[in-house]
Amino acid sequence: GGYKIAVLPGDGIGPEVVAEAVKVLGVVGKKFGHTFDLRYADFGGAAIDSSGSPFPPETEITCMNADAVLFGAVGGPKWDSLDPAIRPEKGLLALRKAAGAFANLRPAKLFPELADACYLRPDIVANGIDIMVVRELIGDVYFGEPSGIEVRDGERVGFSNMIYREHEIRRVARVAFETAMKRNKKLCSVDKANVLAVSRLWREVVTEVSKEYPEVELSYMYVDNAAMQLVRNPAAFDVIVTGNLFGDILSDEAAAITGSIGMLPSASVGGPDTPGLYEPVHGSAPDIAGQNLANPVATILSLAMLLRYSLGLAAEADAVEAAVADVLAAGYRTGDIFREGMKRVGCSEMGQLIADR
Ligand code: NAI
Ligand code: MG
Repeated sequence: GGYKIAVLPGDGIGPEVVAEAVKVLGVVGKKFGHTFDLRYADFGGAAIDSSGSPFPPETEITCMNADAVLFGAVGGPKWDSLDPAIRPEKGLLALRKAAGAFANLRPAKLFPELADACYLRPDIVANGIDIMVVRELIGDVYFGEPSGIEVRDGERVGFSNMIYREHEIRRVARVAFETAMKRNKKLCSVDKANVLAVSRLWREVVTEVSKEYPEVELSYMYVDNAAMQLVRNPAAFDVIVTGNLFGDILSDEAAAITGSIGMLPSASVGGPDTPGLYEPVHGSAPDIAGQNLANPVATILSLAMLLRYSLGLAAEADAVEAAVADVLAAGYRTGDIFREGMKRVGCSEMGQLIADR
């Protein structure tokens, strides 16, 4: 019985931050009376060392049999010289593919306690930032064929193909509308329909899906304007849905304006029968690995997303997010978000403080 969660600590700071999220999960289980059945598996560089593959078959089976996957980060200098086909990062792509994870959810939320770490002017930040970017993850120009570099008429020509099939747009649009329903019922679809045919189809299909969600207020914006509005007036956005390329750029922009990479969670979800993947946005941070310096908040907030989106445990997710806000409000900071006058703590202390609350 209970919820099955595959846990993939990975490399570098991955095991350190995942350990803190697991600590918090243990407290959630006790407080709310749930059993979480954790199944650890090798992944990334650690898996290359033990079995020669970054995503071994046993790990795939563990993940596919779980309700959700929590993972830390992969990669590091030790594996950088390997053939790209067996690099740790390949494991990540293989995992996303196996899980059919077509929608990437990246919240960009400014904790009021960290407002002075924000890159934007105080009068802009005063209205708050709480955005969810829903990025299509397994289509678009990154995967469109044909693509390549060829010689034509005596010169080299590079080409990539921006292509979306309507079912790919429809399924990610549904995730975005469902997300909007769980938030403030506002959705902005971002495209470049003034010049791109693929964007005109994107807009048509999103409009069709909107008929299923009459309560959601849908708007459209061109991607260049969206990039500007994100720094000019981020409070105007709630949920954003967009394709893989535009989403790659906008989700980094939206996240960066809110502060440290150590604070940013993400979810990648697919169909109803595949596990959701939950991970911090950051990598394995070899420069600070093994020193108890990493900020575990990104992973703990990823755990909150796992509880909310894969297990349907909203009150539990709210409790985790509130505990993070409390600890920040009390002045505790890991090095990446530390400023004069605050209380500096390490990775395990930060995790313990959040678990205690
Ligand atoms: P990174 O995100 O690992 O680190 C960038 C900078 O942010 C470093 O200075 C690091 O110390 C800091 N940082 C990252 N996470 C932090 C945290 N939780 N607390 C405090 N500071 C933090 O990106 P980088 O350096 O480009 O990549 C390092 C390795 O990670 C590479 O092997 C890369 O391929 C891999 N990587 C893996 C990802 C994943 O597993 N999803 C994503 C990005 C990179
Ligand atoms: Mg990116």
